[in-house]
Amino acid sequence: MYNDNPTINDIKDELNTGHNTPLSEERQGEVLEMDVKTGEASKRFYIESYGCAMNFSDSEIVASVLSKHGYASTRVMEESDLILINTCSIREKAEHTVRQRLSIFNKLKSTKPDLVVGVLGCMAERLKAKFLEEEKIVDIVVGPDAYRDLPGLVAGAEAGQKGVNVLLSREETYADISPLRLDSNGITAFISIMRGCDNMCSFCVVPFTRGRERSRSAFTIVAEAQDLFDRGYREVTLLGQNVDSYKWKNPESENQVTFAELLMMVADVHPDLRVRFSTSHPKDMTNDVLHAMAKYENICNYIHLPVQSGSSRVLDLMNRTYDKEWYKERVESIYKIIPDCAISSDIICGFCTETEEDHQETLDMIDFAEYSMSYMFFYSERPGTLAARKYEDDIPLEVKKRRLTEVVDRQMNMSFVHNKKDIGKTFKVLIEGDSKKSDQQFKGRNSQNKMIIFTKVGDYKPGEYCHVKVTEVTRATLLGNIVEL
Ligand code: SAH
Ligand code: SF4
Ligand code: F3S
Repeated sequence: MYNDNPTINDIKDELNTGHNTPLSEERQGEVLEMDVKTGEASKRFYIESYGCAMNFSDSEIVASVLSKHGYASTRVMEESDLILINTCSIREKAEHTVRQRLSIFNKLKSTKPDLVVGVLGCMAERLKAKFLEEEKIVDIVVGPDAYRDLPGLVAGAEAGQKGVNVLLSREETYADISPLRLDSNGITAFISIMRGCDNMCSFCVVPFTRGRERSRSAFTIVAEAQDLFDRGYREVTLLGQNVDSYKWKNPESENQVTFAELLMMVADVHPDLRVRFSTSHPKDMTNDVLHAMAKYENICNYIHLPVQSGSSRVLDLMNRTYDKEWYKERVESIYKIIPDCAISSDIICGFCTETEEDHQETLDMIDFAEYSMSYMFFYSERPGTLAARKYEDDIPLEVKKRRLTEVVDRQMNMSFVHNKKDIGKTFKVLIEGDSKKSDQQFKGRNSQNKMIIFTKVGDYKPGEYCHVKVTEVTRATLLGNIVEL
């Protein structure tokens, strides 16, 4: 049985404001194209990425590693010598999608026996060598901390030797590897600031697939932001499973850099470089971070603060280490310190033992927190997690789905109310490119991460800022016109 019914996906598509709330989004099979001009590259690789932004960011590390070893990329699977699939294990459906893709690759391999197929990412880490038994087509299995070993493993596979490296590391941050920006718009980019997760949310597979939490050197993060800015990028999103617990000791001064300090260091690169971050864990989000956001105009007023459930009893079973009151206090502090901040969330419906009363508390939380949007899921038991070992997955699928539909409906109403409050307001927007529907219109985001569509006037170009007055809204987007201030 596989999860997320189509209506929910449709709704997610509509509500999804894309790219910038990345650690919650199960992005599907994006093919990544890059501008690799290695000149002498003799072989070609093709890569598909699934899951969260961490995976997309890792694929850029992988591309960088391979490009230094004579591999150039291709968007055409049939042209490649090496197919890589960067996988996600967060829900059962995510793994199912990967298996389906492998069967497609299998067809190609039957016509091209020398083709090497590699599985990367979280599912590789979860299944390890078992993958080679379960899926005969797979030649190499490489976990998230072993990408430096890829060239060796690929060379082995080319010589007929299947290979696995799923060692997790306590140190690896790929700090020195400059990611090859894939499928980039040249304006917005991800910067990975930490890896792994030390929380043990009982439903979650990530601590098992990504290992212990470690923070990357602040110097290399700032240098990467500076380099992106110099190359014309105007927005960076700092990525980690729990960015608020970023901690890095400067080896020269022995000073600890906190997340609030890191945010300010990146914001200082240039006032025209917007800074976003994802994801914040409610237990770790400090007022220092909120004050940094309030102080810097270029740190965007948007926080993805996943609640998971509105019931303290369920939150305890989930091992989230905060309760409803704590979460509400964090929300109140955000609105107090940054009055125009938008907050979004992740919500799991039908976790073990969830009652109708618990579910009602989740619905109430949407109203209380006034989320601008949410990513909503029903609970999918993951092998090996605390919840799988300790609790029975006892909520029937129909009940999970019904509760999810109710949560989605409530959030859609809230998103609409949230957007309607923006009518008549003027926002500073970073132009990202043409809108999907028309080359006479631009799309861009405001600080609150809302997508705005507006008619082109003057000689504004993507990558520039303009001011847009909102005239109309839907549940997912704002529409408006450029105004000169
Ligand atoms: N580190 C982030 C979350 C990463 S996973 C955080 O703590 O907020 C993204 C989201 O997937 C989670 O927030 C959760 O809502 C959802 N998720 C994780 N495991 C799940 C499971 N077993 N079933 C359903 N949804 C799950
Ligand atoms: Fe998973 Fe919790 Fe870590 Fe997020 S904080 S990755 S939900 S264990
Ligand atoms: Fe991300 Fe999926 Fe792994 S959400 S961390 S790719 S399990």
